[in-house]
Amino acid sequence: MTIPESKTLKSKTPKLKTPKVVVLTGAGISAESGLKTFRDNNGLWEDHRVEDVATPEAFAQNPALVYRFYNLRREGLLDAEPNAAHLALKDLEHALGHSFLLITQNVDNLHEKAGSRQLHHMHGELTKARCTHCHQVFKWQQNLDETDHCPACNSQGSLRPHIVWFGEMPLFMDEIYQALSQCELFIAIGTSGNVYPAAGFFDLARQNGAKTVELNLEPSLNASAFNEGLYGPATQVAPDYVQRLINTLSPSYC
Ligand code: APR
Repeated sequence: MTIPESKTLKSKTPKLKTPKVVVLTGAGISAESGLKTFRDNNGLWEDHRVEDVATPEAFAQNPALVYRFYNLRREGLLDAEPNAAHLALKDLEHALGHSFLLITQNVDNLHEKAGSRQLHHMHGELTKARCTHCHQVFKWQQNLDETDHCPACNSQGSLRPHIVWFGEMPLFMDEIYQALSQCELFIAIGTSGNVYPAAGFFDLARQNGAKTVELNLEPSLNASAFNEGLYGPATQVAPDYVQRLINTLSPSYC
């Protein structure tokens, strides 16, 4: 009796199960690319109090300051290159395919520059502007100020940085909560655990049965509640960890 070809193939090709992985990144992953983190400098962000530049009230009171602040941050992206940690996450996405989701609190574009595609910027993006009249979002690489017109509705002075300020609702929360409810491994990289809701994601993933790992320069506020913590510069710790994870994606993993 001859075995049909499909059966032969089936028995020779082990079924590969890829774990569902969610990665959350924060400012620490971009630190070695030259972008400053938020809480390392006496609570000052590039010499400003966060409340003076990153709230709707600050924008209402002193729009010129807020525009200038984000224009400088956007200019700073021109020379910034992704580092080994960003590149490792691109490799992980490649290895895991649709079982992977990257959530970043960062408003820089270094994950995209590294090649990541399955990515949500929950705190917005420096390279986008949003119209407060028609609510459309636009790619915006140049400086932004009150004299600019909305490309869609032509209102003048209605464009603001597409940044989620303190007191505003983060973006993509439905997609994020759905991914957290299904993930088997949750990895936080370069985030201090100060700002919610992101600081609570590991706990949601854990409640749903995921293993939780943090990679950071030093233990974060929630370090003791993670299953595992690996500490050191992201460019060293993340590529090592990701490579070990990719090595486990062999047929024997399942
Ligand atoms: N490698 C790894 N981790 C690092 C590195 C590095 N080279 N350098 C700094 N870190 C760690 C710090 O130890 C700190 O725990 O990165 C973390 C950065 O923390 P924050 O500055 O608080 O940044 P983040 O957690 O991303 O902040 C969250 O707060 O201000 C808001 O909206 C803003 O998205 C931001 C949010």
